[in-house]
Amino acid sequence: MKTQKAIGFIVLAGAGLFSLSLATGAWAADMPDAADAAEMADMAYTNKLVDTCTQCHQRDGDSDDPNMPIIGGYSAAYIISSMTAYKNEVRSCPEIEYISDHKKVEKTDMCRISKELSEDDIAKLAQYYASKRFRRANQSFDLELARKGQLIHERDCEKCHSEGGNLASDDAGILAGQWMPYLKQQFFAFYAEKRQLDKKMKPKFNKLDKTEIEALLNFYASRGGL
Ligand code: HEC
Ligand code: HEC
Repeated sequence: MKTQKAIGFIVLAGAGLFSLSLATGAWAADMPDAADAAEMADMAYTNKLVDTCTQCHQRDGDSDDPNMPIIGGYSAAYIISSMTAYKNEVRSCPEIEYISDHKKVEKTDMCRISKELSEDDIAKLAQYYASKRFRRANQSFDLELARKGQLIHERDCEKCHSEGGNLASDDAGILAGQWMPYLKQQFFAFYAEKRQLDKKMKPKFNKLDKTEIEALLNFYASRGGL
């Protein structure tokens, strides 16, 4: 009797192990593993963050409003540095009127928006927009002014805004194909010292007169493709 019982136990234990390993196999095939699940939760979280930007910058950051900068395709480093500047209020935050979901005109600004975000949120958003393509705005420009602007750009700006202001990896924004009204506002903000200028950009920038600025704006509106 004793021996039989012992054998029965071993067989049962063996069957138990077998069915357990089968179950594990089926579970592994049908369900994402822990790493995939974490990645999916991360994506869902990032998408929620992006929802709060879409009203003004569009889903892919290719804003169709000339007063809202296109941010899809910018480098992550540039997005992080601008959002941090807004968060710390070292960059001016013009108030923005927008139509809310409740069809009411509401006001906000980039400083208030950035203050609600953690460093990690900003990094996630930066990664998201950096993975998109920069869709250059289609806007009219004056060809003669653009040609003048190209010469000024090559003399004073190309060093840091290379390929006619087209290169995201310069970490200095993308000027070629950015909305002209937005860029114009940034020129004024630099002048009025409401936005900090790169130390080396300052002397080049401050010597520009009004017509040279107009010329540069028209060159960037031509998307650097004259
Ligand atoms: C209500 C409209 C609105 C919302 C919502 C909004 N933005 Fe903006 N954003 C703007 C405007 C307008 C500017 C330009 C402000 C200025 O003149 O500095 C701007 C500027 C920026 C810039 C700087 C662009 C540059 O070329 O330097 C970044 C980056 C940016 N926003 C990211 C975001 C992100 C990320 C979100 C969501 C968390 C967001 N914005 C939500 C309107 C908005
Ligand atoms: C020594 C390098 C350097 C030079 C030269 C330079 N820039 Fe810049 N520029 C930068 C950097 C860095 C930034 C990003 C600043 C920031 O993070 O706020 C920038 C940002 C800008 C922006 C804001 C872009 C945005 O998306 O908001 C404009 C506009 C601009 N530069 C125009 C010019 C023009 C026009 C010239 C030539 C007259 C020029 N820059 C020369 C380094 C330079």
